[in-house]
Amino acid sequence: MDTTLQRIYAMTQADIAAASKHLMVGGGTPGPILVQGKGVRVEDIEGKDYIDCTSQSWAMYLGFSNEEIIDTIHEHSKHMTHIHQGFNSLPRFYLARLLAQLAPQGLDRVSFTVGGGPAIEAAMKIALRSRPGSREFVSLWDAYHGTIFSTASASWIATQASGQFTGQQNFLSALHTVPRVPNPYCYRCYFGQEPDSCDLMCAEMLRLTLQRGVNGPAAGVLVEPIQASAGQIIFPRRYLVRVREICDEFGVPLIYDEVQTYCRIGDWFAATHYGVTPDVIVLGKGLGAGLPIAAIIIGDRMEGFGPKTEELHTFANNSLAQVTAARQIEVIQRDGILENTRRMGEYLADGLRRLQGEFPEMGDIRAVGLHIGIEYVEDPKTKEPAVDKCVQIRTEGMELGAIFGLGGVRKNVLKVKPPLILQQHEADEILDILHRAMEKVLRP
Ligand SMILES: Cc1ncc(COP(=O)(O)O)c(C=O)c1O
Repeated sequence: MDTTLQRIYAMTQADIAAASKHLMVGGGTPGPILVQGKGVRVEDIEGKDYIDCTSQSWAMYLGFSNEEIIDTIHEHSKHMTHIHQGFNSLPRFYLARLLAQLAPQGLDRVSFTVGGGPAIEAAMKIALRSRPGSREFVSLWDAYHGTIFSTASASWIATQASGQFTGQQNFLSALHTVPRVPNPYCYRCYFGQEPDSCDLMCAEMLRLTLQRGVNGPAAGVLVEPIQASAGQIIFPRRYLVRVREICDEFGVPLIYDEVQTYCRIGDWFAATHYGVTPDVIVLGKGLGAGLPIAAIIIGDRMEGFGPKTEELHTFANNSLAQVTAARQIEVIQRDGILENTRRMGEYLADGLRRLQGEFPEMGDIRAVGLHIGIEYVEDPKTKEPAVDKCVQIRTEGMELGAIFGLGGVRKNVLKVKPPLILQQHEADEILDILHRAMEKVLRP
């Protein structure tokens, strides 16, 4: 081990306590100090081992310390790791072509950037370019598109309700107004309708807002086709079909935020899963197998970026992240990782539904691939959110050796989103830990 690494990994609890006063961590659900990982498992500084159902920000699709990814990183770092955006590079051409080949037909121009928020913002710039004279975007209730000012404006974190625990209220003066319309949260339908027979009032609200709720022509409609931070909310296909029709009716670009859905739902894109194609797809998180990279893929109707400095980031042409993203795609293709994601997702969902028989507090189980959430309620009839119990189940799960995520606007959704390489015995272990955690918390 090199000497810097030696010093880093030799840090004691006293060193950490002394160093911590120099560090501002920011948000996120607190967890242990992690030092290494292998496959779907991570280990903390005390040597305690966990199965990681968060994939660290849902991003480590091939798990931790994947040998092939490590080899690609090692080998490529001997070429060039960072290249200015203005210079062309082979990895960038290669990855752009690969993503264009995977994307739905008609979406075939790619721009890279540094993270999910900046990628959403890049999509917003493209939409504004494509709709001269437009200004406003429309997004959905409970949406999450990142914390940079442009995307926080379109996210639930800027609302009064969430401001209580996000602190985003400090930034209200820097945020712009993004009209937000009801999301198709069928478990708690705001219009009191049933999912299969409803008349899509939520989509109608979008139509009316585009017609009467924005100043001038809208620049774009921003949608996570399956909402993640909102609490793993799965949209009915007919909702997205209707949204597409409405966007076409008004000539408004439809932007899919696929920062969390890419691959995790057992398909390359939610656009292909649903068969409803947007004008822009935004990628981030898992795209780089753990290295920071994000991208947008745009369709025929959209204006691309021009030669001026409309979109420039120091690390937007990070070839190390690009080769890693390309390597990951090729491993996913070769090893049938998307099939595994679907199979393991169904396996976990079946197991969770069996547990629901014993624990009706598991009010709603929402799963597409390994994009899974459990909404906890005090009583399945009243659907009163069981916030404390959900938090306790997560804490207990951590004790028992599984790290679950926590989400939902009400913070009563437990997220189960392990790496996509999950095997059946590991899925059994997750179900067993969750069972024991729920016994302890719900049946003390
Ligand atoms: C759906 C979605 N969009 C955008 C973002 C923002 O990405 P980043 O944190 O890389 O800026 C996130 C991050 O959690 C996300 O979940």
